[in-house]
Amino acid sequence: MIKYIGSKRRLVPWICAVVDALEGVETVLDLFSGTSRVGRALKERGYHVTANDHNTYAWVLARCYVQADADRVAGEARERLAALRGLEPRDGWFTETYCRRSRYFHPDNGARIEAVREAIHLQDLDPDVEAVLLTALMKAADKVDSTTGVQMAYLKQWAPRAMNELSLEMPPLLPGGGRALQQEAWEAATVKADLAYLDPPYNQHNYRGNYHVWETLVNWDEPEVYGVACKRTDCRTLKSPFNFKAGIRPALERVLDALDTRYVLISFSDEGRITRDEMESMLGERGHVAVFEAEHPRYVGARIGIYNPQGEKVGRVGRLTNREHLFLLARNGADLQGIDLGAVASGAPRSAPRDRDDSRNLGYPLDRSWI
Ligand SMILES: C[S@@+](CC[C@H](N)C(=O)[O-])C[C@H]1O[C@@H](n2cnc3c(N)ncnc32)[C@H](O)[C@@H]1O
Repeated sequence: MIKYIGSKRRLVPWICAVVDALEGVETVLDLFSGTSRVGRALKERGYHVTANDHNTYAWVLARCYVQADADRVAGEARERLAALRGLEPRDGWFTETYCRRSRYFHPDNGARIEAVREAIHLQDLDPDVEAVLLTALMKAADKVDSTTGVQMAYLKQWAPRAMNELSLEMPPLLPGGGRALQQEAWEAATVKADLAYLDPPYNQHNYRGNYHVWETLVNWDEPEVYGVACKRTDCRTLKSPFNFKAGIRPALERVLDALDTRYVLISFSDEGRITRDEMESMLGERGHVAVFEAEHPRYVGARIGIYNPQGEKVGRVGRLTNREHLFLLARNGADLQGIDLGAVASGAPRSAPRDRDDSRNLGYPLDRSWI
C-alpha cells in the first residue's frame, strides 16, 4: 500500500473485529476508502464491499483491491506487468515536472514511471486490469519517492530510497466481487448495505493537494500546475467540505441522513474538528451509540517538525500520538444488545510504534529538512 496520511493501517484488525461482532452484516459500504486497506481487509473476510472515494487515485486503488476479481484478472495483469518491466525509460512532461521543476522522484525513476504510464495509456485494457497496473505503478513510485509521505513538499536532498530503481510488483488481489465508486460521500451513501464505515478527513489538509502527483499519474492529463510543489491547479477549486471547520458537521449530517444502513461505524481522531461529545450527541439523536478509543501514532511529518524553504526549523514538534475513536451507531431496528462490546474494546491497538521504526520504514532519518 502507498504511504497515506490518515490511513488506518494499524487500526484495520480492530475495525474488522467490530464488524465481525455485529449480527447480520454481509455488505459493507466504505465511503472514504483512501488506500482501500479497510475495504480490502473486509473483502478478505468474506464481506461484499463497496468502496467509494472522490479522488481518482483512490478510485483506482479501490478498483484494484476491492472490485477486481483475482480469478478473472490476475493472470492477464501479471503478463502485462512483465512486459512493462522491460520498457526503455521515456523522459517527458512527467519527468520534467516532478523530477526537475520539483523533486518527488529521481529523474531516472521519473523516466521509468513515464514509460510505464504511457504504455498503459496506449493499451486498450479491461478497466480492472488497468487499475491493477496503475496500482502497481503507484506502489512502485511510492517506494522510491523523496517525500515524508505527502506531496505538498519534497526533501531538499534526495532520500536514499529515491536512488533505488523502480520495481513493479503485482498487487495482492483477492478473489470474488466488490464494487468501486468515485462519488461524493453523500451521493454514494444511498448505496444499500448493512454497515457503512466512515473515515472522513478531520482537518484542513486536502487529500487531492496532498496526493496531487498520484492524481496526475492516474489521470495522465498533463495539468496546469503551480508553486514550488507543482500542484494541479484544480487543487484550488476541488475541495471537500470535510476539510473546513464550518463544513464538516453539516457534511457529516448530510451523509448520515442519506445512509439507510443498520450500522454506521465512524473513525475519528481527537485532533478532529468534531469533539467526542459532539459526535456522540449527533449520533445519539439517530440510534444506539457505543464509543471505543485507542492511541495512534501521528503521521511522520508531524514528528519531523516544520521547516522554512531555507531548511531551517521554524516550528515545534507537537505530540507524537493522538487518540483514535471508533463510534458505532445501531439503528433501523438494530441495537447493541448481545454484542460483546468489551471484547471489541480490548481488541484496540494499545502501543504506538517508536519513532525510529517509522524512520527505518521511510529509509531516511527524521531530522532531514524538506521544502
Ligand atoms: C482519512 S482518509 C481515509 C483513509 C482510509 N480509511 C485508509 O485507511 O486508507 C479520508 C478520505 O476521504 C476522501 N474524501 C474527502 N472528502 C470526500 C468526499 N466529500 N467524498 C468522498 N470522499 C472524500 C479523501 O480522498 C481521503 O481518501
